[in-house]
This record gives sequence, structure tokens and C-alpha cells, in this order.
Amino acid sequence: KKGSYDHFMQKEIHEQPHSLKTTMRGRLKDGGVLLGGLKEYLKTIRRCRRVVFIGCGTSYNAALAARPFVEELTGIPVTMEVASDLLDRQGPIYREDTAVFVSQSGETADTLMALDYALENGALCVGITNTVGSTLSRKTHCGVHINAGCEIGVASTKAYTSQIVAMAMMALAIGSDQISTQARRDTIISGLNNLSSNVSEVLKLDVEMKELASSLIDSESLLVFGRGYNYATALEGALKVKEVALMHSEGMLAGEMKHGPLALVDENLPIIVIATRDACFSKQQSVIQQLLSRKGRLIVMCSRGDASAVCPSGSCRVIEVPEVADCLQPVINIIPLQLLAYHLTVLRGFDVDQPRNLAKSVTTQ
Ligand code: UD1
Ligand code: M6R
Repeated sequence: KKGSYDHFMQKEIHEQPHSLKTTMRGRLKDGGVLLGGLKEYLKTIRRCRRVVFIGCGTSYNAALAARPFVEELTGIPVTMEVASDLLDRQGPIYREDTAVFVSQSGETADTLMALDYALENGALCVGITNTVGSTLSRKTHCGVHINAGCEIGVASTKAYTSQIVAMAMMALAIGSDQISTQARRDTIISGLNNLSSNVSEVLKLDVEMKELASSLIDSESLLVFGRGYNYATALEGALKVKEVALMHSEGMLAGEMKHGPLALVDENLPIIVIATRDACFSKQQSVIQQLLSRKGRLIVMCSRGDASAVCPSGSCRVIEVPEVADCLQPVINIIPLQLLAYHLTVLRGFDVDQPRNLAKSVTTQ
């Protein structure tokens, strides 16, 4: 089943040009988006007071990646909930809310308990899942199957990128009645149509990521700084590194750097800074300058051709990725980090597909 690959995680990373196509298949039509599972509910969603995203782990991170474009394309306020934390707080959920539950397996205990809680509170409950017939798919009022194909590696990879794309289509569908954002929607739809070939391009960084992994093999820790559309990329990249490579790693909001994390910076601690082109680019350029002036050991991810714009001194290691529509960039940017986590794990001699202490789906609290 792994074919020519050594591990399922590796296979699933390299499968993403295909899994993203199946996520979009039959859903991008005549310049618009058709999601059969949401069609009847779009009017209700448009009238809701807020969208609450609920999930755990990688699925939470996918929702976080979707948050900026859902807000932008729908104008509806979006709040984020880690399922267990919502339950711990018994946080307010109202009839006027649209609660969107994101889960690859559709069987995660915390997510399902949060779903019961939201149903009791009368919210419209929407599922985003990879598993047809799962409890999540059955118990939600409506939803979208991401159709990424079976994911076997405990570390979620292709489901993450398909979840983001499914939520991009959801945002486009909800916002499709707005004339003022038509041009923006057209740009994103054409970005979706070209996404798979850009994913094939970024996968060519495999060898480069293996080299980078071998330079990090003995590090104790790895920080990842992102912001805006790529805050989620920082969290998800760090989650991959910690869960499979068993290396301490933290994703951080670059805007929070001076409020604590900067104290950690020295010439030894490796720091990945995500600085691809978007509205936050110049802010990331200045973050890089500040880290360099503290002698930070930087690895900068930037858009193709931007190496000297992000690191004029030439003292950073640079990862250049293809540029896509800004809100879809997280789909591209996570891939080098998935590859890095994979190679780090193999080089450090750990089990890639069955990381220590973890289960593919966490069905108990
Ligand atoms: C559906 C068919 C697909 C077919 C297509 C043709 C299924 C599972 N999907 O896809 O095989 O090719 O029509 O038009 O038969 N749902 C939830 N919660 C969730 C996920 C989904 O309630 O978490 C519901 C949806 O609201 C919908 C149904 O499940 O009623 C199927 O969802 P989805 O597979 O996303 O719908 P289509 O893309 O229309
Ligand atoms: O099946 P789910 O998407 O609900 O799973 C949620 C998390 O348990 C899962 O994403 C976990 O964080 C992964 N092992 C991450 O790779």
C-alpha cells in the first residue's frame, strides 16, 4: 500500500497534488463553487451572528488557517475553540451561531462532545471531515466531506491541506452573494485551479529539506514564527516536528516576538521565519532584521525570487516557495515543514507512522 515509499507519512505528503484535486473535484463549476452538502444551508449561515471553529490538533490548525479568509469573504466574525477548552469552560454557544467542527477522522472524543454541547445549545452545526459515515458526519446538520482519501500516518498531512481547501470553498460559497468581493473570489478560484501544480512544484524541495533536517538533527528545539495567513503554518509546522521528530518545537505569532520569545534568541537556537508575500511582508522583513541583530540562527521561508529581499546580508538559510493567492499560501508553506519533520524523524531514528504515545484518532477524553 505504501508503493515506492518507505512510510505512509511520506506517501501522504507526496500525494497532495492528487488529494487536493479530489477535494475540489466537481466543486469548482462555471467560475463558482458548488458544495452539495452546504447548498441548502447557505442562507442560514449568512444570517448567523458568528462562526465558531472547533477542533483539536491539526484540524484546529487548519481552521485557524481558514479564519482570515472566512472573515474576509463572509464578513462574519469568526472565533476559535480548541474542543477540550470549550468543554472545560462550558463557553457560550448560541442559537445564532454557526459551529463548524473540523476533524479528519470524525471520531475525536473532544470534538464530538463539543458537538453534542453545541447541538444542545441550538447552534447550526457544520462538519468538515474526511470520513464518510463518521459520527461527526452523521450528527452535524450539514457539512463537507474533504475527500482526501484514507490517511494512515498518525501525523496528519494531506488532510490538513484538504481541510484548508474545503474551508476556502466554504468561504467562497457563503460569500458568493456579495458583489463587492467578486474580483477577490475570482482570484482565489483561479488560485484553487492552479494549486495542485504549485504543490507539485513545492514538493521538489524534498532534497533541500532533507539537507536542512540533517543540519538540525542535534538541535534541542526549533521555533517557527508566522503571522496573518501563516500563523497557522507556524503552529502546524511545530506540531509536526514535535509529534514525529520528538523535538521540542513551538509555533509563535511573530507579532508577539518582543513580548517574550525574543529572550530565547541566540546563535544556537534554530528559528524558521515564514515571510512569503502578503500584506504582512514588510512586518516580517523587520522581524528578520531584529532577529539577525540578536545573532539569531535563521531559516527564512519566502516567495520565489525574494531571497535578497528577506535576507540582504545573506546570513540566513532561505527556502523559496512558489507564490499563490495569499490566502492559499498556507497550503504551499506547510509542505516544506511536513518534509522537514519527516526527514528529521527518519534521521533521528524514530518511528514515522506510529509516533511514541500517540494514536491516530483520540476516541477517549
Ligand atoms: C455527494 C456525494 C458524492 C457525489 C456527489 C454528487 C456522498 C458522501 N457524497 O457529494 O459521492 O459524487 O454528491 O453530486 O454521498 N455532511 C454532514 N456533515 C459532514 C459532512 C457532510 O452532514 O460533516 C452531509 C452533507 O450536508 C451532505 C452529505 O453529507 O448532505 C454529503 O456531503 P458531501 O459528500 O460533502 O456532498 P457532495 O460534495 O454533494
Ligand atoms: O481526527 P481529527 O482531525 O479530529 O484529529 C485531531 C487530532 O488528534 C489530530 O489532528 C492530531 O493532532 C494529529 N496527530 C496531528 O498530526
